[in-house]
Amino acid sequence: MSQDRDANQSCAKCPGCTRREVFVKVGVGSIGAAFAGAAAFGYEFLSPNVLYEPSPIVDLGKPDQYPPGSVTQQTEAGLYIVHGPEGIYAMSAVCTHLGCLTAWNADLGIVACPCHGSKFTRDGTKIEGPAPRPLLWLRAYLDDEGNLLVDRSALLEQKEFVRT
Ligand code: FES
Repeated sequence: MSQDRDANQSCAKCPGCTRREVFVKVGVGSIGAAFAGAAAFGYEFLSPNVLYEPSPIVDLGKPDQYPPGSVTQQTEAGLYIVHGPEGIYAMSAVCTHLGCLTAWNADLGIVACPCHGSKFTRDGTKIEGPAPRPLLWLRAYLDDEGNLLVDRSALLEQKEFVRT
């Protein structure tokens, strides 16, 4: 009986509500917080674990923007577009030693790696340095609209050229 009286006494901090009402509000709030946490974990659990990666195929525009004799470095795509006498080809700019991004040196006419000094010719052949292999050639082709596409996931065993 005295417990009921204690529970029905008004709270000192909020005179309009009883102690019982305060406990009920705290309890309902706790249950609400627990449901919100469970819903958040449930949503996270049911969401697919998909790693969204950019497409390996890059559109490099019309081939006529790569004049004969040019070497164009596409830094964002990590590749070179070279217009040689046989046609246009694409070559990875990633060094075959430890994966640094190489750079075209127009003055010397070579591709150079800034990390450990490997050097390559414009067709990727190794000149010097610790790189164990030449630079990799990538599949380049024209789409139906005549745009030059490069598939960075398609490594070529033999040299292929896009003739324009
Ligand atoms: S990463 Fe290019 S030479 Fe080492």
